[in-house]
Amino acid sequence: MSYETILVEQKGAVTLITLNRPQALNALNSTVLAELIDAFAAYQADKAQRCAVITGSGDKAFAAGADIKEMADKPGAEFYSEDFFAGWTSQLVKSTRKPWIAAVNGFALGGGCELSMMADFIIASENAKFGQPEIKLAVAPGMGGSQRLTRAVGKAKAMDMCLTGRLMGAEEAERAGLVSRVVPADKLMEEALKAAETIAAMPPLAAMMNKEMVNIAFETTLDTGLLMERRMFQVLTATEDKAEGMKAFIEKRPGNWQGK
Ligand code: HXC
Repeated sequence: MSYETILVEQKGAVTLITLNRPQALNALNSTVLAELIDAFAAYQADKAQRCAVITGSGDKAFAAGADIKEMADKPGAEFYSEDFFAGWTSQLVKSTRKPWIAAVNGFALGGGCELSMMADFIIASENAKFGQPEIKLAVAPGMGGSQRLTRAVGKAKAMDMCLTGRLMGAEEAERAGLVSRVVPADKLMEEALKAAETIAAMPPLAAMMNKEMVNIAFETTLDTGLLMERRMFQVLTATEDKAEGMKAFIEKRPGNWQGK
């Protein structure tokens, strides 16, 4: 499938999705969203694909936000009647049950920061800059920035970023818990693809359940979360991969996963 605004490549069991509007610093317009929904649905459906990486083309930006030129003249009532931006969470995030990583180079601003936070984790290059500068346009985050950023870095930094629009560099982002690793810019894709290959080599049902379990921590009480965790663990013990995994450990060999 070829797209207008994104590139999709399969590297073994890893799907690499590249935002490809470098002339607009990979700004996220409606076509990007529709194409990402399609590409992620294809990734989710393809049993041979076990992890995905999303990144931005060019060396300047992961994505500089939702497309301001698309939004500038749009009547306010249409944002509401179309439930503008709803698809990011309802179709992309919720339907992608398999793991995906954001590899962030350069600017990840507004919707770009929000898209990176939709991923399961973020690997950032040393030149990454995160921000929610929507306030400068007299709006506010609309794709999860006020919610996911606050859960990731806490109220103090989220308020600071949303109210002043200041950018957060990679080092601060790692310290604050927004990104899992920071690597030199020229090592970003190597490191992200290596992490994705590591995940892709894991038993696939366990990968999906580990993802689901961590996400549940954001949605429920500790007591309910612990109960769900135990139940999910118990479900995994009934898989063929669990029998294989424990046998392989005892026999000192790698496991051969069936996803069953
Ligand atoms: C559309 C964008 C864009 C965006 C950059 N461009 N960001 N186009 N939407 N979000 C375009 C520029 O217009 C320009 O096009 C080209 O990309 C290069 O950008 P420059 O500004 O010339 O680059 P530079 O001077 O290096 O500055 C980089 C930058 C700046 C600091 C990242 O581009 C910037 O501030 N961008 C906007 C960031 C932002 O506000 N994001 C939040 C958007 S709102 P031309 O054609 O002139 O070459 C959002 C959620 C909104 O995400 C929710 C509300 C409902």
